[in-house]
Amino acid sequence: MFYANLFIYKYINAIIDSKGDIMVRKVAVLTSGGDAPGMNAAVRAVIRAGLYNGIEMYVVYDGFKGLYEGDIHQVNKDFTQDIINRGGTILRSSRFPEFKNPEIVEKAKQRLSDFDIDALVGIGGDGTFRGLNDLSKVGVKVVGIPASIDNDVSSTDFTIGFMTALNTICDCVDKIKDTSTSHQKCSVIEVMGRHCGDLAVYSSIAEAAELTVTEDHPYDEAHIMKKLRRLKSQQKGHAIVVVSENLLDVRELAKKIQAETGFDTNVEILGHLQRGGAPCAYDRILASTMGSESIHAILNDNTGVVTCLRQSKITTMKIEEALALPRDTHEASLALINELQ
Ligand code: F6P
Repeated sequence: MFYANLFIYKYINAIIDSKGDIMVRKVAVLTSGGDAPGMNAAVRAVIRAGLYNGIEMYVVYDGFKGLYEGDIHQVNKDFTQDIINRGGTILRSSRFPEFKNPEIVEKAKQRLSDFDIDALVGIGGDGTFRGLNDLSKVGVKVVGIPASIDNDVSSTDFTIGFMTALNTICDCVDKIKDTSTSHQKCSVIEVMGRHCGDLAVYSSIAEAAELTVTEDHPYDEAHIMKKLRRLKSQQKGHAIVVVSENLLDVRELAKKIQAETGFDTNVEILGHLQRGGAPCAYDRILASTMGSESIHAILNDNTGVVTCLRQSKITTMKIEEALALPRDTHEASLALINELQ
């Protein structure tokens, strides 16, 4: 469905292009916040789509910090060679809470005008969108592209990097299952997501985890112990408990499981390995499509927006509207977990 819509989207954009008459000479791109697989594919697409449309392209290193410091460089097509498959971000990234300060935002705006840059594309999560929104409010033309392993941006069905991180988690859980089955163990696996349970929920579905704990699927100690005691008594070969980070102490939980259920229990905190690795094909295509869309938006003077994937279509939404959307609790996936576990 997504691939089919890609062709429709390209056709529509070809028509829009022929009408576009906004003079855009220079565009810059940066990556910000936690890195995500596919950021490089998005950088590549922004630069290539820009150059294809006759725009001079610039990169900013180290996110908003680099923008504030003026770490801005012109690039050509060679810059984008062999980066589509690379993990991390070649533009590097930073967390820069100082960007909340209006004077720092003004300075960043000044840096862009020093280079006569007409518009900025920012690739990152909701923190990046807030920074872009602040720039937009002081008159900078911006477009945001959602990239985060957490999938915590409500304006898009999927963020760039989520599918790769999910695949990485599944790869790890498959391996953990091999050994925990051999030794009839329970494994408590903590996954990232900040305050979003999507990595936990989707990996639980894909891995047929016995139990899942997220903000929207809260910790219920009695239920966990009862279920694991039952599985143990049924001679179940292993048990997988997936827990979203920032909710509870997984080591303490593992101790309780061991003491109360008879399952010998391991703890696996997957940590930053979830953010690394080559992006999967889905993330490369999503990043390429959104990168191209960001340039089309700028050419059509549709700025102050973020690109989105909504019901398999690539579109844009005003940043303020995107930031105001309520958090998606993925009711259907939670219902599926309840039904299948
Ligand atoms: O937002 C991506 C993410 O990996 C979250 O899942 C996690 O909570 C956070 O970043 C970790 O941030 P840092 O790498 O700055 O410790």
